[in-house]
Amino acid sequence: MTTASLQTLRLAMFSAQPYDRRFFEEARAARRSPVAIDYHDTALDIGTAVLAQGCDAVCVFVNDVLDAAVLERLHGQGVRAVLLRCAGFNNVDLVALARLGMFAARVPAYSPEAVAEHAVAMILTLNRHTHRAFNRVREGNFALDGLLGFTLHGKTAGIVGTGKIGLATARILAGFGCRVLGHDPYPSPAFAALGTMVPLDDLLAQSDIVSLHCPLVDATRHLIGHATLGRMKEGAMLVNTSRGALVDTAAVIEALKSRRLGALAIDVYEQESALFFRDHSSDIIADDVFGRLTTFPNVLVTGHQGFFTIEALREIAAITFDNLDCWRSGGACANVLPAA
Ligand code: NAI
Repeated sequence: MTTASLQTLRLAMFSAQPYDRRFFEEARAARRSPVAIDYHDTALDIGTAVLAQGCDAVCVFVNDVLDAAVLERLHGQGVRAVLLRCAGFNNVDLVALARLGMFAARVPAYSPEAVAEHAVAMILTLNRHTHRAFNRVREGNFALDGLLGFTLHGKTAGIVGTGKIGLATARILAGFGCRVLGHDPYPSPAFAALGTMVPLDDLLAQSDIVSLHCPLVDATRHLIGHATLGRMKEGAMLVNTSRGALVDTAAVIEALKSRRLGALAIDVYEQESALFFRDHSSDIIADDVFGRLTTFPNVLVTGHQGFFTIEALREIAAITFDNLDCWRSGGACANVLPAA
């Protein structure tokens, strides 16, 4: 790539929120980067890919669609690189990417602690009902019925996926005095200092809280469904801050209705792309499954905000620029997506 083309490098950012613009513009100014960025608040799909016309690269987030059709459309328009502002890449067709010879890199770790802290915030909120207490007290209602929780100290927490975020979550929960169990086909040696690795069935049977931190791949889709819910300890809490499709939502609703599952905290939802990251407060929400979930007093939903800290957003912007620089210079990039 020539110096002139470097200076005219153009990036189309999809699903861009005001905070993306803020942190990317800060990073761009700090680096004096000549890259031009077109910010589009719309998500990338086959209908919006045309917005990247004339761009060299696209920058995408968790719910942008990068299937074969979209990648081919982008490639046909001259796009040669995909920069993910996230760790998960289950939305990218790796086979099509390789066939088209496109560069794609992600941000594998921006702040594992940010997501872990959010998972624990959800556990504490759901257990001690602080979200309900907040509203009650503002209405002058100081009654405690319905706010009963359990003491976290001494409980068993099961961490499914003991990678960066799972490890950070285990560290916090061990600090609360929980007994920590882990399950991972590739166990991390660092986990040994925090807890015990066990088969998934043992983890499910023994844990008062099960927290999911594994990636979404074919083997983990609906990892929590009718069968696995049936193996969980009666009344346990399930936490998912990883990817929505790890959980079969219909099965979870049945388990909540039968009271087999004691509580559910989710920051991700299988059909979240139609809802999350947008203000739908004046819309009729057509997703009845989601609607049912929000009727349970023992369900807490947040809209994929685990990553949402100043530190993490700063890191995402910085690493994305590093990935772009790697691609421009043709150097080796540690964050390139793995082969299919
Ligand atoms: P990581 O790659 O460090 O760890 C994932 C771990 O899951 C690895 O140790 C892997 O061996 C393990 N694993 C793979 N298959 C498994 C299985 N079948 N059962 C149990 N464990 C399995 O990834 P990291 O950074 O900890 O992220 C985990 C997930 O968190 C990401 O895949 C992403 O989906 C999600 N995430 C959510 C965010 C949010 O804002 N809510 C933000 C960032 C990531």
